[in-house]
Order: sequence, then C-alpha cells, then structure tokens
Amino acid sequence: MRRKHQPAPDDPPVTSGVSRRGFLGRTSAVVATATATVVPGAPEAEAAAPGAADVPGEHLVTVRLTVNGEPRRLRVDPRWTLLDVLRERLGLTGTKKGCDRGQCGACTVHVDGRRVVSCLTLVATLDEHHVTTIEGLGADDELHPMQQAFLDRDGFQCGFCTPGQIMSAVCLAGEGHDGSDDEIREYMSGNLCRCSAYPNIVDAVKDAGRVRH
Ligand code: FES
Ligand code: FES
Repeated sequence: MRRKHQPAPDDPPVTSGVSRRGFLGRTSAVVATATATVVPGAPEAEAAAPGAADVPGEHLVTVRLTVNGEPRRLRVDPRWTLLDVLRERLGLTGTKKGCDRGQCGACTVHVDGRRVVSCLTLVATLDEHHVTTIEGLGADDELHPMQQAFLDRDGFQCGFCTPGQIMSAVCLAGEGHDGSDDEIREYMSGNLCRCSAYPNIVDAVKDAGRVRH
C-alpha cells in the first residue's frame, strides 16, 4: 500500500544523480512535454475519465472549462474529482494526490484565481470556470517567481508537497497575507510537508513577495 506522502508511480523519480535544486526544473520540462501532447481547444476533447469503461454513457455530463489557458470540453461522470481528471485524463500529473480527503493540500490548484483542494472538487461543478495547475504557472522558458524562490531557498526535500505549496503561496501573496512569518505560516497551514521544509518555505514566500513588491 502506498504511504500517505509517497510519490505516485507516475511521478518522476528522484535519483541520487539529481540535485534537489535541479528537481523542479527537470519536473517542469517533463510537464511541459506532457502538456504539449494535449490538443488545445480540441472541439471534442472528451475524457473517458477513471472507470469510464464501467460507467454507462448516459451518466456522463459535458463540462466546458479552461485549463491552463486552453479551452477544454470534457465528458465526465458527476462523481469524478478535478484531481483525478487532471492527473488521469489530462496528463497533468504535477498536481499530487496525498491524502485524497482534503487534509494535506498536496492537490491544491487555482479555480478562477482562488486556491482549492482538487481532491474535494467535483469537476462537474466547474462548467465555464478557469483552472490553473502548477504546469500553468510561469512561461515555457521562465519559472514563476514563486517557483524560482522555492528553488533558490531549497523550499523542499522530496518535492511531493511542493506543487501544492507553490499554488497556495501564489494565492497567499496575491491576497497580501505575506506580511510576516507568522502570517505566512497561518495562511499556509493547510499545506503539510512531511519533510518539514517549513522554514525554507517561509523564506521562499518572503523572497517572492519582495519580487512582487
Ligand atoms: S490530496 Fe490531500 S488535500 Fe487533496
Ligand atoms: S513532503 Fe517532502 S518536501 Fe514536502
């Protein structure tokens, strides 16, 4: 049985030949390649989501949403979570599944600019909404300032919680809740780190805030 914060089988392995600083950059490259295989705005970009073979088609509903700037039209079961559709059908595995019950924050993404835990968000409720995942931050050849700050400050060890931490931190900074260490800790308290990289995460959030200001 997979432990709570152990990377999923399709997560990129961290080998002894890869530095922690290089890990996020390498992940971004892998993610960019995977994202490129998704047909942007395909008119019938339907997703046979998890368990689709066992679900009669009449139970599926159509959802039109934008994911990382790309319009998507999906046929989904009303019970499917945003997290599972992102990972299993759209190949956006940067968003991690930790607890799958809203307690760890590993699955944090943005919906219309606000952070949500995607494991508790039904994708069927997101018609006409905008979703941003860790793959949608920054540009092709330039990290988002928060991603860069996490790299510069070593704000991670295994990296499993990092996408969720960064997505939360971007919203926190946008909300102006990065005024002090205590405030950052309070507003990041929904994102757990099994490796206890918390001091470096706080430093990273402060650094990114200085870039913003
Ligand atoms: S996977 Fe833990 S909060 Fe969603
Ligand atoms: S859980 Fe390992 S870096 Fe946070």
